[in-house]
Amino acid sequence: MGRIAYVNGRYLPHGRAGVHIEDRGYQFADSVYEVIAVHGGHLVDEEAHLDRLERSLSETRMAWPMARRAMRVVIRRMICRNRITDRGMVYLQVTRGVAPRDHAFPASPTSSLVMTARILPPINPEALRRGVSVITTPDLRWKRTDIKSTSLLPNVLARQQAIDVGADDAWMLDPDGNVTEGSASNAWIVGQDGSLTTRQADWRILKGVTRRVILRIAAERHLRINERPFSVAEVKVAAEAFMTSTTSLLKPVVRIDGVHIGDGKIGPVSAHLLRAYMEHLEEIGAGAQEGQHG
Ligand code: PDD
Repeated sequence: MGRIAYVNGRYLPHGRAGVHIEDRGYQFADSVYEVIAVHGGHLVDEEAHLDRLERSLSETRMAWPMARRAMRVVIRRMICRNRITDRGMVYLQVTRGVAPRDHAFPASPTSSLVMTARILPPINPEALRRGVSVITTPDLRWKRTDIKSTSLLPNVLARQQAIDVGADDAWMLDPDGNVTEGSASNAWIVGQDGSLTTRQADWRILKGVTRRVILRIAAERHLRINERPFSVAEVKVAAEAFMTSTTSLLKPVVRIDGVHIGDGKIGPVSAHLLRAYMEHLEEIGAGAQEGQHG
C-alpha cells in the first residue's frame, strides 16, 4: 500500500490528495507548518512542535483547525497508515482556509489542515559526522521569520543558489553581515575557546526545537553558551561550526564561502553534542519518555 495523506478530515492516497485552488495557503502562503520527526516509532519532541504551532497560529491570528488533542490523534493515525515503524517524519500545514481571493481575512475563516508523512532511512552515524559546505546569501525573508510560516521562497532560492555553486546549503546574512540561520536550520559556531555561539532567538530566526534541545544539553554539560549575532568573519576563524534541525539533526559545517572551518571534519564539541542528541533520540525511540506516541 502507498503513502496516505490527510486533507481536511479525509485520508487519501498521497498521489490523489489535493486542496482547492483558492486555498489561502496556495494563493498567499497564508499558512503555517510544522515538521515532526519519528524515531523508533515515537514522535520526537512533539509537544514542543505543537507549542510552536500554537504560537505560529496565534501570531498569524489563525484558528486551530481542530482541538490540539484531536491533532495528536491524526498525527498518530498518519504514522500508522504510512507504516512508519522506525524513522520518519510528519509534515503538517494549517492554512486560513478556502475563500474567494481577497487579501483581507475571510469573514468567517475555516482553517484547512493538510498532513503528509514519510518513512526516512535509519540514521547513518557515519554520514551524520560528514561535514557539509555552505555559502552565504543576503537574508531576503520577511521580518517575522520567528513564525514558522510557509513563506519560504527566499529560503528556496538560497538553497538552490548554494547547490548551483556546488555547496550543500546557504547561511543567510542580515544587513550587518551577521549570520541569521540556514535555509532550513539554525546556525552555530564553536569558538577557539570551546564556547558555543548561536544567534539569540529574536524575530530574525526560527526558534528551532532542535536548537532548544542542544542548548539544554550544552548547559547540562557546563559548556559556555553565547546567544548573540555572529559575523561571517567569526565563522571563518571558528574552531567548529554546525547546523541543527528536526531532519538534519546536528550536521557539521566544514566550509563557508570556500573557506575551511577547523580541520575539515567534525570537531570534538560538535561530535560530543551530536552523540548527546542521538542519546536524546534513543531515549525517545525506546519509549522512555512519558506522554510520547506509543
Ligand atoms: N525546518 N530555521 C528554519 C528556517 C527552518 O526551516 C528550520 C526547520 C529550523 C530548525 O527548526 P527545528 O529544529 O524545529 O526543526 C530553523 C524544517 C525541518 C523544514 O522546513 O523542513
